[in-house]
Amino acid sequence: MNDNAHMITFDDIEIRRPELAKSYLQLLQAQPGRPIALFAPRRVGKTFFLDQDLTPVSRKARFVPVYADLWLNQAAPLAAINHALEEALDDLTVPTTRAGKIGKTPVKKIGMLSASVELGDEPTRRKLPDDPALRFDTLVARLASQSGHTILLMLDEVQVLAELADGRSAIATIRAVLQKRKRDVLAVFTGSSQEALAAMTVASGGPMYQFAQLLDFPTLGIEYPKALAKHFASVHADKTLDVDDLVKAFEFLGHKPALMKDLVKWMSAEGVTDVQFALNRFVQDGRLIAGWEGLLASLQPFEQVLLSVIAKGHAPFAKGTITLLNKDPRFTVSVSKVRAALERLRKSGVLAKTAGRGYLIDDTLFAEFLKRH
Ligand SMILES: Nc1ncnc2c1ncn2[C@@H]1O[C@H](COP(=O)(O)OP(=O)(O)O)[C@@H](O)[C@H]1O
Ligand SMILES: [Mg+2]
Repeated sequence: MNDNAHMITFDDIEIRRPELAKSYLQLLQAQPGRPIALFAPRRVGKTFFLDQDLTPVSRKARFVPVYADLWLNQAAPLAAINHALEEALDDLTVPTTRAGKIGKTPVKKIGMLSASVELGDEPTRRKLPDDPALRFDTLVARLASQSGHTILLMLDEVQVLAELADGRSAIATIRAVLQKRKRDVLAVFTGSSQEALAAMTVASGGPMYQFAQLLDFPTLGIEYPKALAKHFASVHADKTLDVDDLVKAFEFLGHKPALMKDLVKWMSAEGVTDVQFALNRFVQDGRLIAGWEGLLASLQPFEQVLLSVIAKGHAPFAKGTITLLNKDPRFTVSVSKVRAALERLRKSGVLAKTAGRGYLIDDTLFAEFLKRH
């Protein structure tokens, strides 16, 4: 190592895609009232993109970005959206920093408000409606008018709506408000592809299918493994990584940057340059395995067995598979039992649904591990 204290680490390597963000904004502006829905598997960088690219780019273009994660609030998606809008409204009216306070105080003093405050009857706005749908509509209108800008509403993991019992009504509300307020708000949704696409196929003709434009969200390309290789070379004066091999590994890892980074970090720590060797070792790495074993241990025995059967490439509903599963004396297996277990695994995020209504283990490394298990 040389002494030019490398200020950056592998963790600092981030790929920004402002041009992609700009292109989405342009698309949205060209079709008011019609959101775009970005689909890609988990952990490829959708949330990162919303936060690190779309948010700053939209702010620069004078939008008011508002982000809500529906996955975190599955039981009450509209409440989650409303909460995010209320926070944004607060940010406008309640200064958060000292500088903000100083900046805002005089405005209030010379504004119309102060006169009425002195008279003791501040014309407060009407209370927000309690009904979540009406509240959503009101919040959008208020935030747009108070800010004087168009809102960019980002709804992350929107496939949650397709899975809720009353998801259809939430979708219908969102659609109605986005249409009605199309001059006040643009919207971007994200979803994990297979699941959401399958849900839409089922509900085809359903509201979501008609109104949002579905786009494949592009995963990171070779620029990410390239940047990692470059940093590796700067840390190890006498070693380099083969970029082509790294790119292949990135593909194998499903273009998931965090996994890729962990792999290269491990190579760097061990001084290994053989990517294929590293990948094999990485899959058998103790930490990862501990995590997977923990995950497996949290599942019911039948779910565990079912997972390994899927990892080995068996179709879960096939007659042969069910016969095979029935050989285990612990289980009495039927198609409906398989279906219920698959749904539980899907809800916990271990499995994703594919467009063809099959199921897939979301994490490629975990799938590899199960194959050997
Ligand atoms: N553009 C990027 N550059 C570097 N790392 C990224 C990038 N996008 C995502 N990551 C890494 O991948 C992880 C998963 O990304 P995330 O946005 O949470 O995926 P998703 O929302 O698609 O599930 C992040 O925590 C981050 O470490
Ligand atoms: Mg995410």
